[in-house]
Amino acid sequence: MHGSSAPIDTLLHVADLHFWKVVANPLRLFNKRFLGNLNVWLRRGRSFPMSEAALFVEALAATSANQLLLTGDFTSTSLDEEFLLARRFVDALNGSGFALNLMPGNHDVYTFEARRNHRFERHFAPYVPQEGYPALRRLAGGTPLLLVPTVCPNWVSSKGRITRQEAEQVKRLLDGLPPVVIVAGHYPLLEKTHGYELTRERRLRNADALRQVLGESGRTILYVAGHVHRFSYTRDPVYPNLSHLSTGAFFHINRREHIRGEFARICVLADGFEVHRHTLSESWSDLEVPPEAL
Ligand SMILES: [Fe+2]
Ligand SMILES: [Fe+2]
Repeated sequence: MHGSSAPIDTLLHVADLHFWKVVANPLRLFNKRFLGNLNVWLRRGRSFPMSEAALFVEALAATSANQLLLTGDFTSTSLDEEFLLARRFVDALNGSGFALNLMPGNHDVYTFEARRNHRFERHFAPYVPQEGYPALRRLAGGTPLLLVPTVCPNWVSSKGRITRQEAEQVKRLLDGLPPVVIVAGHYPLLEKTHGYELTRERRLRNADALRQVLGESGRTILYVAGHVHRFSYTRDPVYPNLSHLSTGAFFHINRREHIRGEFARICVLADGFEVHRHTLSESWSDLEVPPEAL
């Protein structure tokens, strides 16, 4: 569709690492974390094979792209122990020569206490933008990458939030940018695609305000998110300049599709994007995926 010209930039998208640690001390189980622990326990078993993680780094390196976007949910319940595992992994990526762009997911501000103590910002200090979010980055080829804040702690639900002021800030930042832009947030903006459906408790509050800002920006935008743990690449049904990518969880075991890990490779071209989905079954393979209409 775009011919065979070399991409201006190539960006790998890694979503929802969800490093976990089950806490056995009941004194630490007094809040929302209790539910989180139960989930982790049921879904994940007891330990994470870190040796596996090294193989995943190799798979990213094998693409020969060296720019990486991580859209959050590094941890499962925002425990220091989980952040330490995640930080070790992120440092390994950094040490492998990747330029890193990252933001927190809702699981990284899982409790009000974790938010209050800025646990994400402390553990990822060298990687967090000094100006906070939204943050504007430039990829090596000049493509703007806008990192948008969408997370907040909740008592029970997994809702996200973008404020009106933050949406306004994004609008102002977009105004000065060239025609092709990548925007990234933890939460997807569409409630439902062919790949996922967000229940009310897992949605982004005010998503339509951000979507409108992107849709009316006059820029060709790929909005990249995680959170849903499902791959989908969708044309916005209202704004023809906007498309939406959600990438499945990096270490996700998806029995329905017979895969045990995935990431996406985004090629930026002069007039738009090409998206490749990389999946691990027996070995890694990748497929260029065209955007779907809703
Ligand atoms: Fe997640
Ligand atoms: Fe999430």
